[in-house]
Amino acid sequence: MQTYDVIIIGAGAAGLMCAQTAAQRGRRVLVLDHANKAGKKILMSGGGRCNFTNMYCSPEDFISRNTHFVKSALARYTPWHFMELIHKHAVAYEEKQAGQLFCSNSAKDVLAMLLAECEQAGVTLQLKTRIDSVQYQDSDGFKLKTNAHTYQCQSLVIATGGLSIPTMGATGFGYQVAQQFGHSLVPTRAGLVPFTITDEKLKQLCTALAGSSINNCRLTCNGHEFVEDLLFTHRGLSGPVVLQASLYWQTGQPISLDLLNRPDAAQWLLEQQQQRPNIELKTLLGERFTKKIAQLLTEFFNFNNQSLRNYSASQLEHIAQQLSHWSLTPAGTEGYRTAEVTLGGINTNEVSSKTMASKYQTDLYFIGEVLDVTGHLGGFNFQWAWASGHAAGSCV
Ligand code: FDA
Repeated sequence: MQTYDVIIIGAGAAGLMCAQTAAQRGRRVLVLDHANKAGKKILMSGGGRCNFTNMYCSPEDFISRNTHFVKSALARYTPWHFMELIHKHAVAYEEKQAGQLFCSNSAKDVLAMLLAECEQAGVTLQLKTRIDSVQYQDSDGFKLKTNAHTYQCQSLVIATGGLSIPTMGATGFGYQVAQQFGHSLVPTRAGLVPFTITDEKLKQLCTALAGSSINNCRLTCNGHEFVEDLLFTHRGLSGPVVLQASLYWQTGQPISLDLLNRPDAAQWLLEQQQQRPNIELKTLLGERFTKKIAQLLTEFFNFNNQSLRNYSASQLEHIAQQLSHWSLTPAGTEGYRTAEVTLGGINTNEVSSKTMASKYQTDLYFIGEVLDVTGHLGGFNFQWAWASGHAAGSCV
């Protein structure tokens, strides 16, 4: 039997932050993971450049049944605390947009930084370990049976993440442990995920435009509005604006796309008609979209392409209406296979927002994405992993 003060299950973003924080306080820490490599999601994040935080992070950027839950941990471990680490390890980074900080070189830099901090603090990391059972006895604390050894620890931290990207090692293990100790779960679903389209005509359009994008589209979904880029795919629609909307979309609901993203679309077309009567509609739209998108949208909406002078005012109003209030209903999402995050998870009403400790089981903690906490796109999910990992690491 090997004994530790703290065992953390999951060597991802939250687990590695928790491990170094606890070990720096002198705790003997073991991190277990069934994968053959730590931090796989860090490596694949942000297109390989890891959007590791957001400078403007605030509780409003997160979804949870208990909207107050994130406040304490986020206030005590801010993006600036993480930036201290980034500077200490001289990780090159850049701001892409709206406070989103990415590695300039590679996500490997962030993982190497976390592993170096863990090593320096004396954390033991054991990969390729399957956990067969978790038991608790008042006298001995937690006992973990694994395919390698049996372990005992005083504090157990669950940092096994959500269900997205099963091929990267995602499992529902954390939910099972939570339920074993009496916790309830908020139903899970895929988030930050592309929409699929089955309507034949719309699918043909998406397939024909796969890989093309429109910048600054306005998307309204279930009372929420986002302005970001839209990407057409072979399966449907993606891009940041769709990923954000997927956090709020419910099956069967329509979404509304404003492709022009201008409040005065009809007025603008009428002005263009006066100023450039001979320009063809698809040529004008090609100034906003690519030529290919303009051509295919003109056909899709049956705009009967011709010089602007030939359209009546009401026809131009109709065109403006179609392009700025395009209502369509996604068939579904691509699901956990490609989702960046999992919505739902362990009910945050049953966990201390200060320490991440279970309210039902002494010395049991839950951190990161396994909890019912989901951030918007833009570095918020990692900031939650760092903040919740630090909160638990400070008291285990
Ligand atoms: P995480 O999933 O990182 O770690 C969980 C660990 O637990 C894994 O190592 C896993 O192997 C292990 N585990 C699971 N089950 C186990 C079991 N049964 N036994 C043992 N170990 C087990 N966020 C962001 O802020 N900026 C970004 O740029 C991106 N980009 C991005 C891209 C893609 C493609 C994805 C899929 C996700 C993102 N994210 C992101 C989201 C971000 O990666 C995610 O929110 C965090 O990694 C969550 O950190 P956790 O530590 O909670 O889980």
